[in-house]
Amino acid sequence: MTIADRVIHLLAGPGREAYLGEPVSQAEHALQAAWLAERDGASDSLVVSALLHDVGHLVLGESADVADRGIDARHEDAGAAWLAEHFGPDVAGPARLHVAAKRYLCAVDPDYLSQLSDASKLSLALQGGAMSPAEVAQFRLDPHHDPAIRLRRWDDEAMVPGLEVPGLAHYDSRIEAAAGARGTR
Ligand SMILES: [Fe+2]
Repeated sequence: MTIADRVIHLLAGPGREAYLGEPVSQAEHALQAAWLAERDGASDSLVVSALLHDVGHLVLGESADVADRGIDARHEDAGAAWLAEHFGPDVAGPARLHVAAKRYLCAVDPDYLSQLSDASKLSLALQGGAMSPAEVAQFRLDPHHDPAIRLRRWDDEAMVPGLEVPGLAHYDSRIEAAAGARGTR
């Protein structure tokens, strides 16, 4: 099975489930995030990272109400581990940091918190809330922090019910290229 087939398998299977209290499915959220990345002129690897930033929810098989039950399953780590098996650091790194980027933006951008969805505000508390100044400084040292912040903005926007965007087939060649760049299939 190619990596693009695996992605299709995940998004078309468990990805059809609701996205953790948001008005779109996991698959719709993923495709909207990838489309926003592409529209913003992101590199191929960052488009793939946007498409798969929440793959941790799918590989963990979380139920949709984990945040309501006070659980942070650290889907970003599970997702980054899965991505690192199949892609290089330019795909796995921004996905690993997409929750940290939310905590970062809450610390440095006064308007950011008010723009978050209710579900995202709820999970923020479980994820540790806004970063401390020391955490902000540490975050800025990570070479993937800039693309992670860009990814986070697309992530937050990718919640529009019924928005028509390209399907998974649109990303096949990018997925295979990003996987091929790492030398694995
Ligand atoms: Fe997301």
